[in-house]
Amino acid sequence: MTQEVISTTKLIDFEGVSKTYQLGNQKVQALKGIDLTINSGDFMAIAGPSGSGKSTLLNLLALIDTPTNGQITYNDIDISTLSDNQKTMYRNKEIGIVFQNYNLIPVLDALENVAFALQVQGIPNHVCLSRAEKILKEVGLGTHLHHRPANLSGGQKQRVAIARALVTNPSVVIADEPTAALDSKTGMEILDLMKELNYTKHTTFIFSTHDNRIINSVQHVVQIEDGLLINQY
Ligand SMILES: Nc1ncnc2c1ncn2[C@@H]1O[C@H](COP(=O)(O)OP(=O)(O)OP(=O)(O)O)[C@@H](O)[C@H]1O
Ligand SMILES: [Mg+2]
Repeated sequence: MTQEVISTTKLIDFEGVSKTYQLGNQKVQALKGIDLTINSGDFMAIAGPSGSGKSTLLNLLALIDTPTNGQITYNDIDISTLSDNQKTMYRNKEIGIVFQNYNLIPVLDALENVAFALQVQGIPNHVCLSRAEKILKEVGLGTHLHHRPANLSGGQKQRVAIARALVTNPSVVIADEPTAALDSKTGMEILDLMKELNYTKHTTFIFSTHDNRIINSVQHVVQIEDGLLINQY
């Protein structure tokens, strides 16, 4: 019998990462020294109460924001050594982002929303459309290609958003509370879809959640509280 070899290459490393926001003359310490390693192919939930620093952590992971102290490396590249342009290029190539409220463009249909992520990279239109159609079929929306967001359910909109994040073939998808706007059953369906895509495409998924049902059905959980990583299993 052949055995599947699962490699665990280090993808992202946080070393002593902190983030302090300046709010008027007040300082808010949102993260207080986070050490965290994410391996390629990981499927990780970030859990913690409101205000604990989950979105701050995900924004740093998505290279949307920069840490106040500490080091973030992606594939052994120290992110602080990249220029803003290089960082944007790195983000466009390696990272897919999914938002709680989908952030779809209302005047575009599902196919156009997904294709748009490729069009902005200057890829020929017919390639964008065929790749968008393929990934929408993979997330179960082959029959809804020409529905605009207003004519899709919440779960379907989140499927479009996941397809849009994946169509560029990123190594990691980062999602801030991707199921928070959904009812519990639909939230579990989105979790199952992300698990399936993690398994079939080996895409790394990192997402935050408040939902205990979701936390209980994910193997790798990172718990943060008051800006500190208090537990991971
Ligand atoms: N732009 C900002 N300016 C000032 N303070 C901020 C900013 N963003 C977040 N904070 C503060 O940083 C802390 C962590 O916030 P963050 O949004 O990361 O928490 P969270 O865990 O995502 O919360 P929630 O579950 O409610 O989304 C909070 O005290 C918050 O008020
Ligand atoms: Mg948040």
